[in-house]
Amino acid sequence: MKLEKDISLKPYNTFGIDVNAHQFISVQTEEELLEILRRFYASELFVLGGGSNMLLTQNINKTVLHVNLKGIEVVEESSEYVLVKAYAGENWHDFVSFCLENDYGGLENLSLIPGNVGTSPIQNIGAYGVELKDVMEYCEAINRQTLSKKTFYTKDCKFGYRDSIFKSKLKNQFIITSVVFKLSKTNHQLHIDYGSIQTELNSKKISSPSIQDVSKAVIAIRQSKLPNPKEIGNSGSFFKNPIVSNKVLETVQVEYPEVPFYKIDENSVKIPAGWLIEKTGLKGYRKGDAGVHAKQALVLVNYGEASGKEIKEVSKLVKKEVKTKFNIALETEVNVF
Ligand code: EPU
Repeated sequence: MKLEKDISLKPYNTFGIDVNAHQFISVQTEEELLEILRRFYASELFVLGGGSNMLLTQNINKTVLHVNLKGIEVVEESSEYVLVKAYAGENWHDFVSFCLENDYGGLENLSLIPGNVGTSPIQNIGAYGVELKDVMEYCEAINRQTLSKKTFYTKDCKFGYRDSIFKSKLKNQFIITSVVFKLSKTNHQLHIDYGSIQTELNSKKISSPSIQDVSKAVIAIRQSKLPNPKEIGNSGSFFKNPIVSNKVLETVQVEYPEVPFYKIDENSVKIPAGWLIEKTGLKGYRKGDAGVHAKQALVLVNYGEASGKEIKEVSKLVKKEVKTKFNIALETEVNVF
């Protein structure tokens, strides 16, 4: 564990934004984490996980605490299921791959999501019909004030669409150290209703897919429209899909009867933000190195040297155009600093 000064955070955020950290320290174990939490006041620290859900618009004048705890272990097992613990600093997709190699089922739809395990409960990551809340048993976290450890079961986390208690009531109060998943060993329950998964499996002529087949299908779909952060900086979906009333949907349908939507309840629906943005004409928009991805308008991209402020400007333009055209306010999913 070593304290570095004035280092670039470019390798530590998937947008690839080049801002500096006044001080930087990476912790590999819970003991090191506790030592740092004892040494610094909470207000002096800026906690960084996988850097996959943030847009940095300025230098960080605090000490950046890089939570890089490693390890994967089976904590309980029966003939049907397994409880697997992954520490916060494990790369999400490497962990999914580990589970697939061991034929543990449940995470296959969440293949290739950028980021680390520790931040997955904060925004309740989700894709292709599965959310983290469906597979998490509990997570462990350290209270930044008292330094005591607390176990949060799924029911405690107030999980919602890209939302949890760690984003609201308990924001910045806990550091998640590990997440425990309940995964199947036999009779895997597949989630292949999501349209594009079926299409992908059909194109490969797979009629009774394994969890590994589902993972490969998800990877193929993601690679066809989502940019690889190693090639083009991005943070996945920059906005949430807005939930609107049936009345708002009907107004959109007057001009666009084909608008895609998913029913939430009797009164409201979710409309894909990517579709709304595309209809404003901004899909593929680029100013300097900041832009709207050409294959999925929900994703903002850094083609190389864009600053966080430039990406933020593009996000403001997107919000403004969607508001003007549809009178719908887009909400940012990514954390902006
Ligand atoms: N669409 C367009 N134009 C676009 C993008 C999308 O018309 O530029 C339309 C599509 O044709 C489709 C609909 O919008 O009819 C939905 O598109 P897609 O299946 O690509 O999913 P999404 O709603 O845009 C959400 C998640 C993604 C997740 C996918 C698949 C959010 C904010 N995003 O995107 O999550 O991978 O569903 O489950 O809910 C992420 O959170 O970073 C992320 C990538």
